Amino acid sequence: MLFFVRAPRARNSHASGRQEPVKELFGELADGTKVHRWSLENGGTRLKVLSYGGIVQSLELPDRRGRYAGISLGFDTLGAYETSSPYFGALIGRYGNRIAKGRFALDGEEHRLPVNDGGHNLHGGPEGFDRRVWDVEEFTSGSDVGLVLRRTSPDGEMGYPGTLTAKVTYTLTGQGDWRIDYEATTDRATVVNLTSHVYWNLAGEGAGSVHDHELMVAASRYTPVDAGLVPTGELADVTGTPFDFRTPKAVGADLRRAEPQLLHAKGIDHNLVLDKGPTGEPEHIATLREPVSGRTLRIATTEPGVQLYTGNFLDGTLVGPSGGAYRQGDAVCLETQHFPDSPNRPEFPSTVLRPGETYRSATVHSFTL
Ligand code: GLA
Repeated sequence: MLFFVRAPRARNSHASGRQEPVKELFGELADGTKVHRWSLENGGTRLKVLSYGGIVQSLELPDRRGRYAGISLGFDTLGAYETSSPYFGALIGRYGNRIAKGRFALDGEEHRLPVNDGGHNLHGGPEGFDRRVWDVEEFTSGSDVGLVLRRTSPDGEMGYPGTLTAKVTYTLTGQGDWRIDYEATTDRATVVNLTSHVYWNLAGEGAGSVHDHELMVAASRYTPVDAGLVPTGELADVTGTPFDFRTPKAVGADLRRAEPQLLHAKGIDHNLVLDKGPTGEPEHIATLREPVSGRTLRIATTEPGVQLYTGNFLDGTLVGPSGGAYRQGDAVCLETQHFPDSPNRPEFPSTVLRPGETYRSATVHSFTL
């Protein structure tokens, strides 16, 4: 009898070559609008994206033994996204995270936004970019494959001033990295803070808690919040707090500490202030590793902050494609961003965009084993 012993392989030896994007009809929204899905594959990474919300419906990666799993939370059906999604995989705009009381002043003019989170504006309001159908175009370029998503948000949409012309590019590189480039212009002074709300579970969606994932985030400070999860304005030192991920630590290590900051949020739901600050090119800021599968996600960004969210509001009522229910702590989000409530905090890096300027932001997700 013959036994074949397989040596451990580098991730990219599993890499299948680039596939041409496949577009298919995914479903219809309640109002009859058609939604399409694109399937991309490159460098061993498989990505499925919806025109609705620019949603990453799934991102599949092999483990050490070459077995693929979807490593982001999502749904099988468009209906579930339309009625029940807590932003699974979605593009967030015009403003990621909270603007206190749905109000801000710009150039002496007061703006009012609809409130959708305990009296505050969250993730662009009740009908944010996550709930809009985007124009999607596929491309291939060199060893890359990708999608360009475009949307023009009319002046005053969800209360935000200015016509905002947004372009988001999803690129899958020959190495299997997923890069997001955001661009936006306006015809009137406004505020912008775009992000992506993927819920990661590197063991596979539906595999249970991510509390054993190891996380490193290069942030020495964080923005403490009040009971409504709005920053108090302080940039606090993470030393000795549950927010210190400067050396790798299990995601769940400190979540049961009875500290007011954790109790406000039912866990971690905080903006970490990245030591590198805002940068012109993406720089490495975080590494998330799942010890059993070996899957490792490295994030680089141009942004000055990242919202670390430990899936606190998943309550066992939503069911993913694997057929299992999602419970508290079954995923972690790392939403690269400018700080929450910056429009009301002149001391925070500015989120103001003026006519003639171009908003640019980029985040790269690299995967290794
Ligand atoms: C962000 C917010 C959280 C929550 C999640 C989605 O992380 O900060 O409070 O809204 O999105 O539920």
